[in-house]
Amino acid sequence: MTGVGCARSLAAKRVLLIVGGGIAAYKSLDLVRRLRARGALVRVVMTAAAKEFVTPLAFVSLANEKVYDDLFSATDEQEMGHIQLSRNADLLVVAPATAHILARAARGLCDDLATTLLLATDKRVLYAPAMNVRMWLHPATQRNVSTLHGDGAWFVGPNIGDMACGEYGPGRMSEPLEIVQAIETALNQDTRLPAPEGLSTRGGALDGLHVVVTSGPTHEPIDPVRYIANRSSGRQGHAIAAAAARAGARVTLISGPVALSDPPGCETIHIESARDMLAAANAALPADIFVAAAAVADWRAEPAIDKIKKGDQGAPSLSLVENPDVLASVSRGPNRPRLVVGFAAETRDLDKNAQEKLARKGCDLIVANDVSEGTGVFGGDMNQAHLVSRAGVEDWPRLRKEELAERLVARLAQMIDGEAS
Ligand code: CTP
Repeated sequence: MTGVGCARSLAAKRVLLIVGGGIAAYKSLDLVRRLRARGALVRVVMTAAAKEFVTPLAFVSLANEKVYDDLFSATDEQEMGHIQLSRNADLLVVAPATAHILARAARGLCDDLATTLLLATDKRVLYAPAMNVRMWLHPATQRNVSTLHGDGAWFVGPNIGDMACGEYGPGRMSEPLEIVQAIETALNQDTRLPAPEGLSTRGGALDGLHVVVTSGPTHEPIDPVRYIANRSSGRQGHAIAAAAARAGARVTLISGPVALSDPPGCETIHIESARDMLAAANAALPADIFVAAAAVADWRAEPAIDKIKKGDQGAPSLSLVENPDVLASVSRGPNRPRLVVGFAAETRDLDKNAQEKLARKGCDLIVANDVSEGTGVFGGDMNQAHLVSRAGVEDWPRLRKEELAERLVARLAQMIDGEAS
């Protein structure tokens, strides 16, 4: 599993790595590098003790992300609350997991950011223990490990070998590649923890609702080998689908050709062209909410049956016809969902064009993005949205696409609640 053949085996998987305070923390730097090389998005949280062994800067450089270490940071809390930090991940990994972290997690203590995240998460946790052999074999640690097992945690290692302290036995943290393999195995399973008894079924803001999301580009064939496409990565639409599923909705994701894996908890329908997307959208209705995040090609060509060859006639001219507008047909169709949301990718007059699209396509909300050169929205990690509705325009800060998705889903839940009341 860990060879060259699985280079992107963790594409777009979100791993929250908690680094505890042990000498093995230096191996976690390599772990981050290897996870990133496999396409994972890694967010790092360090305990105070971890920072005695490795600097946050080293993790920032490798994860290409800020490192979180403070439960009471007003800025971090404003940008990304600690609950969201733990829920946004597909898997939590604790490496090195010291005896102290295991003990605190088994007890449910939450006296720093790392242990608070472990208590607040709705995902499984993979621990890679690392400690002195006697500490590992101590009945207290063994009790804690079995408590955590019982709570749904997974473990990788520890390995048997020479310890930094000169002793020999079990307690060495697994090697980064072994941990990567355990993460791959974990992420091939459902990493969500079962809802604890007593959690209100109304806990999911979109419980019981059907949400249909379009995402990614469409490909419009020119001949059997060529097509018209655009730069959409699908990351924003997929993140919205995943966030809606986490909020309890039944989600149908209609995805154009993208390099992302299907988000957990969604029924994903793969299509190629705008016409396929329209057919899939109509088949998915009725729905409560429709979110058109796809960058649908506006035009298509009549595809040639055979590959167009270079000939004496010079470059062929393409005659294009307009594609159906998926958003407008759903919004104006007989099965109109209660809430219809469109996107507007604009390079100029953002708000004005978005207002015009809102009216023209009959939507309740338009998420408008500036996609002019240099913004890096298409294909990038970040997005900055203006929310345009009949009530006016609301500017949102520049956010990671996953965070924007969470906020948007929370807003949709409010809007649909408001409509019901
Ligand atoms: N859209 C759609 N079907 C199309 C074109 C667009 O469903 N054939 C949807 C997109 O998913 C998005 C919204 O319409 O939610 C606006 O897309 P955008 O590309 O910004 O606008 P267009 O309608 O294509 O207009 P223009 O390209 O002229 O800005």
